[in-house]
Amino acid sequence: MIKKCLFPAAGYGTRFLPATKSMPKEMMPVVNKPLIEYGVDEAIQAGMNRICIVTGRGKNPLMDHFDKNYELEHQISGTNKEELLVDIRDIIDSAYFTYIRQREMKGLGHAILTGRELVGNEPFAVVLADDLCVTNEEQQGVLAQMAELYKQFRCSIVAVEEVPEEETHKYGVISGQMLRDDLFRVDNMVEKPDPGTAPSNLAIIGRYILTPDIFDIIEQTEPGKGGEIQITDALMQQAQTGCVLAYKFKGKRFDCGSVEGYIDATNYCFEHVYKKGKHKELAQQQTGKK
Ligand code: G1P
Repeated sequence: MIKKCLFPAAGYGTRFLPATKSMPKEMMPVVNKPLIEYGVDEAIQAGMNRICIVTGRGKNPLMDHFDKNYELEHQISGTNKEELLVDIRDIIDSAYFTYIRQREMKGLGHAILTGRELVGNEPFAVVLADDLCVTNEEQQGVLAQMAELYKQFRCSIVAVEEVPEEETHKYGVISGQMLRDDLFRVDNMVEKPDPGTAPSNLAIIGRYILTPDIFDIIEQTEPGKGGEIQITDALMQQAQTGCVLAYKFKGKRFDCGSVEGYIDATNYCFEHVYKKGKHKELAQQQTGKK
């Protein structure tokens, strides 16, 4: 039902300098895949194959990644290296990519508003690629879980997780009325609350489903925390006039915007994604041979 997924990807990734001096932070590899590819995979699994990316200066490698590289294809054609391109070829064949450039960095709300031209007037998802979400084999991806909820409630939804109190100042934090043990109707939302003032320990992570009326609301939203136009403030407005849900997702999330989180994600994905994939491949080859 939701077809489009927006990826704000214009930020500089200053926490990873000098690595991100001339390389987009979204292209940092987690094992053998760039960070953004994990998010795109999650979107496609949720049935969202219209990938809308808000880029900026210096982000051309992102566009190249989601396109054919004829020279490389030619070079490795017929060799066993070809299988390394299977996943990205599948993505390129099954999704449509559109791009728009954000000229000025005025906050996440502004980045999302920049994507309006690509999204149009329909509900859409937002993925912040820095937040890498993994689920086990029995679970759906986080966006797919949220898309299911959208079918039922038809309103904006933010993904939340409990964080230690001393970390609430890094996030948008919500409070609300509990509808089920994993679902809240938001009545308050604060972007990066000062220590000791957070309305709860439920922090927003980088997965959203937004109804398109959010664009008009963002346009009316004054700069907030850090002088930036915050999606959290626009969502608070939407919660006051309509309904916004907060969903405690099933799965694990890594903050790849920080060096520690990025290393944790790398170790986890090496053990639980990469090695598992290799074992499966080997098993398939062996049964194939028998
Ligand atoms: C953004 C949002 C914040 C949210 C966070 C999740 O902040 O503004 O509300 O909790 O993403 O990762 P950023 O981390 O971009 O500063």
